[in-house]
Formats: sequence, structure tokens, C-alpha cells
Amino acid sequence: MRIIEAKDYADLSRKAANVISAQVILEPHSVLGLATGSTPIGTYKQLIDWYNKGDIDFSKARSVNLDEYIGLDGTNDQSYRYFMDNNFFNGINIKKENTYVPNGMAEDLEAECARYDELISSLGGIDLQLLGIGHDGHIGFNEPGAAFEKTTHIVELEETTIKANARFFGSEEAVPKKAITMGIKSIMRAKRLLLIANGPDKRDIMEKALHGPVTPMVPASILQFHPNLTVVYCFE
Ligand code: F6R
Repeated sequence: MRIIEAKDYADLSRKAANVISAQVILEPHSVLGLATGSTPIGTYKQLIDWYNKGDIDFSKARSVNLDEYIGLDGTNDQSYRYFMDNNFFNGINIKKENTYVPNGMAEDLEAECARYDELISSLGGIDLQLLGIGHDGHIGFNEPGAAFEKTTHIVELEETTIKANARFFGSEEAVPKKAITMGIKSIMRAKRLLLIANGPDKRDIMEKALHGPVTPMVPASILQFHPNLTVVYCFE
């Protein structure tokens, strides 16, 4: 495990973008596992900036996102597809057809989960997976108690996650109650992991995740067992 302390959010974003940038420069066909949330926004902005300067070419890259709300389509501004298009994909030259987000509108959601796992395998697996962490230790939408051996599956969101996400929806009632998420097993299969955490409110859970016992009650604690984990954090 490599643990890197960043000076501030801008520094964290640059460092994370540097890791992703190096991945794409060294392996242009990389499969990038991507995350939504507030933490990676600066990383995506930095990558767009370097793309605009001609430093990175995403034309051969592929991406798979961790999760999506059930019941929101890509035109809904709270969907993760919308988030990715607007915070990252529209600003770089990745081919849209090579960007994958679980389909939260699929008629058969179980089949969608199986399709997503097959898709990841058919791409050759994830080369670098970017992760944020929730205050309860969730990664993707794998909430405390999630089984470590799950691949892509449907989850009921925890009350704390619904509360944390209500800020984006205007009210708690408007937050979807279910999501599709890559499971811990899908995440752990990635060749490299990059976990980013920002802000004083992430200090306690990061301490538990990185240095506490490995337990499903802190889903991110399993990352301690990954052979190639890089962590970039700033608790200021
Ligand atoms: C988003 C995701 C979530 C977030 C986590 C942290 O795709 O998988 O696990 O990474 O909720 O969110 P922020 O960055 O908003 O603190």
C-alpha cells in the first residue's frame, strides 16, 4: 500500500490525476474504473486541463463506472451517467461508446448486473480503479455488511447514504432507494486501485479502513488486502 498525503484538495486532485494520466500514457488502451461523488471532481478537471494542453490522449481508453441509481436515466441530472458526461467525458476525447455505466433503467436488473460483469471481463478487466469512500466506509454502493465476494449487484441504500446524497436531490424523499453497484469482488479484481479521500470528516473512517481490522462492517477495509493500492488523502 502506498499512502500519499496531499497538501490540499488541489494537490490531491493533481496527484490523483497524475496517477491516472501515467496509466493512460503508458497503456493507451487502459480500462479505467471510475467513480462519481464530490472527491474526484477536481481530478477530472485536472485531467481535462491536461487533455486540452495536449498532454493526454484518451482516444483508445475505455471506462467502466462503479455504480448507478436505479430508476434514473442518463438525461436525469442526478444520474451518474449524466455526472460522468458533464464532469469528465465531454471534456476529453474518450469515445462515448467506450464509456460504460450500469443501466439503472434496465427492465431486468439482475440480467443487467450479469451483463455488466461480462462486459468488464470482455474488456480484459479493470487496469486502474478510482475509488472514493463514504463516511460509513462504503465503496461504490457497497454498504457496511456487504459480502466481500459479491460482483455487480443491486443494493438498497443505507439511511446515512440517502441523507448524505439528499444535498444533490433537494430532499431525502427524492433520493432513489436502490442502486446497481460493482461488488467488492469486482473492485478487488482491478489490477490497481487508487483511493482518494478529502476533508476532516473522512479522517476517522480512513483510519479504520486502512489500519483497522478487515471487516465487512467497514467495506473499504478489504482494500488492505489488495496488492496494488495507492491512497491519496488530505484531511485539512
Ligand atoms: C460514487 C461512489 C461512492 C463515493 C462515496 C464518496 O461512484 O462509488 O462510493 O465514492 O460516496 O463520495 P464523496 O466523494 O462525495 O465523498
